[in-house]
Amino acid sequence: MKLFLDTASIEEIRTVAAWGVLGGITTNPSLVAKEGDDPDAVWKTILTEIDGDVSLEVTALGVEEMEAQGRSLAEMGPNAVVKLPMTPDGLAAAARLGADGIRVNITLVFSAAQAILAAEAGAYCVSPFLGRLDDVGSDGMGVLRTICDLYAVQGYQSKVLAASLRHPMHVVEAALAGADIATMPFDVFTKLVKHPLTDIGSERFQADWDRLQTELGTREPRKEG
Ligand code: E4P
Repeated sequence: MKLFLDTASIEEIRTVAAWGVLGGITTNPSLVAKEGDDPDAVWKTILTEIDGDVSLEVTALGVEEMEAQGRSLAEMGPNAVVKLPMTPDGLAAAARLGADGIRVNITLVFSAAQAILAAEAGAYCVSPFLGRLDDVGSDGMGVLRTICDLYAVQGYQSKVLAASLRHPMHVVEAALAGADIATMPFDVFTKLVKHPLTDIGSERFQADWDRLQTELGTREPRKEG
């Protein structure tokens, strides 16, 4: 399962990219708006910063408009993936773009039925939102498992991108369910690497090593012969 960062912040992207485990980026209009900068400039910087897939979301309304914006987003870089909403217009635009080889991520997916539509529309990937389902008392992980199972049964080629992940166990369970990609905010990515026993262990190893250096430094030099 590839690990993606759900952000438009270049600092966050650089931090995680330095760990060598960053597979790609997902952005959405809210995340881009948070940067308070020209969206094209924000997207271009991200696209050139990493080699992996970068999802750029269409904001236009209407099939023609979505298709046109999708085409210009796809032209921004070879790693651009056009994100379209799970609506009738979004599906129609996805099918048109997909027919021309443009990779599409169908977003705002909240049910297995919607995931079937995304696959039938030829989406490159489908993004079920787990955390937002949990927020309204639904079983986000259950929906993800059903999508992974039915894609396997049907032999659908669309990738399952587990989105709206809120904590490390969401990531672990998404991997067990068979998701191809998990996207998460910086805060969750940071929590993946952290464990108090790792910190305690590192500190103890360092302290023992330092003590040895001090002992060796104060010891009388060995006499030769
Ligand atoms: C995915 O592509 C979305 O941008 C994202 O995961 C939404 O997550 P949220 O529910 O934390 O806003």
